[in-house]
Amino acid sequence: MFRRDLLFGGAALLGAAGLAHLGSAMAPHGVQELVVQQATYQLRHQRTAGMVSLSSDAPPPVLYGRQGQEMRFTVRNTLDEYTAMHWHGLRIANAMDGVPYLTQMPIGPDERFAYAFTPPDAGTYWYHPHCMTMEQMAHGLTGVMVIAEAEDPGFDSEEVINLRDFRLDAADAFLPTFTARGAARGGTMGNVQTANWRKGPVYDHSAGSLVRLRVVNTDTTRIYKLYLDGGMARIIAWDGHPVSVELPVPRAGAPLLLAPGQRVDLAVAMPVEEGRQVGLMADLPGQPPRLMAGLRAVGSGPQRDLAELKPLARNPLAQPDLDRAELHEFVFGWTPEGDAPNDGFCGTLGYTFWSINRTAWSGDAATGTTPLAVLERGKSYVLRLRNESPNLHPIHVHGLAFVPIASNRRSLPPLWTDTMLLLKDEVIDIALVADNPGDWAFHCHVIEHQKTGLTGFLRVT
Ligand code: C2O
Ligand code: CU
Ligand code: CU
Repeated sequence: MFRRDLLFGGAALLGAAGLAHLGSAMAPHGVQELVVQQATYQLRHQRTAGMVSLSSDAPPPVLYGRQGQEMRFTVRNTLDEYTAMHWHGLRIANAMDGVPYLTQMPIGPDERFAYAFTPPDAGTYWYHPHCMTMEQMAHGLTGVMVIAEAEDPGFDSEEVINLRDFRLDAADAFLPTFTARGAARGGTMGNVQTANWRKGPVYDHSAGSLVRLRVVNTDTTRIYKLYLDGGMARIIAWDGHPVSVELPVPRAGAPLLLAPGQRVDLAVAMPVEEGRQVGLMADLPGQPPRLMAGLRAVGSGPQRDLAELKPLARNPLAQPDLDRAELHEFVFGWTPEGDAPNDGFCGTLGYTFWSINRTAWSGDAATGTTPLAVLERGKSYVLRLRNESPNLHPIHVHGLAFVPIASNRRSLPPLWTDTMLLLKDEVIDIALVADNPGDWAFHCHVIEHQKTGLTGFLRVT
């Protein structure tokens, strides 16, 4: 059985098939130490060196917490470069958001930083560095966070699938994490697609049982096109938050776009026949459909029905008042070639290609950067996100959740999110209540775009 570390922040859900073992890093008072370190792992044929994880020979573990309960982490940096840890999608205090220079100083070699926060929302979230972001994420440091509902939603088991690519050469050594050509266009794609760092892992679940499948795209670049093969299913949450509308289950020919940073939770009814499988499939350009991960029915149990599940409890999200909302516009596009951003200790790619409102981010460590907008705490806003480029951009806002209300290209279901995929030439209006004070990073989650200008921040005062 594949080894997985399940770290618990309180009495969390147990993983599937009883394969949980308690992480060794649990110190007194519930503080978990997360040691950012070099790792090696066999991703393909041979072991790949130079990976970055939280242990020397395994993917970053799933971090478990519970809605409304405090989580504490000490991040210790054993690399010889800087880092900082960000908790993607969690609406927590600004000082704990992990953005270098904006909310904290980068964590140097041999330094630590104590994070403590209380997730207000249940759901599927994730964590990744926000300093040396390109290098450390591309080399492995992307992990999932599961925040359990205060009340057990009634699944028999769950499975967490962390989708991401690596860029390896024929000898399974890392290729450069990006190319200038990619950074100026759609981003540089990896060539080894993995789920939990494995190629098409298959996980056993009881025949007839109800499984919660949490799928997270933590890749630096790829917009995954996913669908389910076999089994009855329902989409129950999107980007952490329960969905209140019926969404079509993605099937062959009608896949779901899951952009970097986005998550989808599915309720899956396992087949009753032992050995039958439900496949999480990906459409990859120029390739036959790929099994990213499978759920295999084992044993025999009572057949449960999706209808037995009651809807997930809503997260405490403030409803924007659209009649009073103030409009702010943001344009995402190219920028005339400029100076490389001043990223201080947090890594520059050496180019500027992208911009927000025609201004490229001058760098994490640049002095005198000003917010793209100043929002008043408690007020409602509509942000108009305009993509004037032919490339797709998953636009992410830290610390706040928002809901799309209009698009010039499609009808969008009202799904609460923190990361909105903008299609070519698309203009999307999103609405939010500025209810969390602080300076919140606002950027494209294609990391090459983020690091070459498509970054800024919103200030909530
Ligand atoms: Cu998931 Cu600013 O990032
Ligand atoms: Cu984030
Ligand atoms: Cu982008």
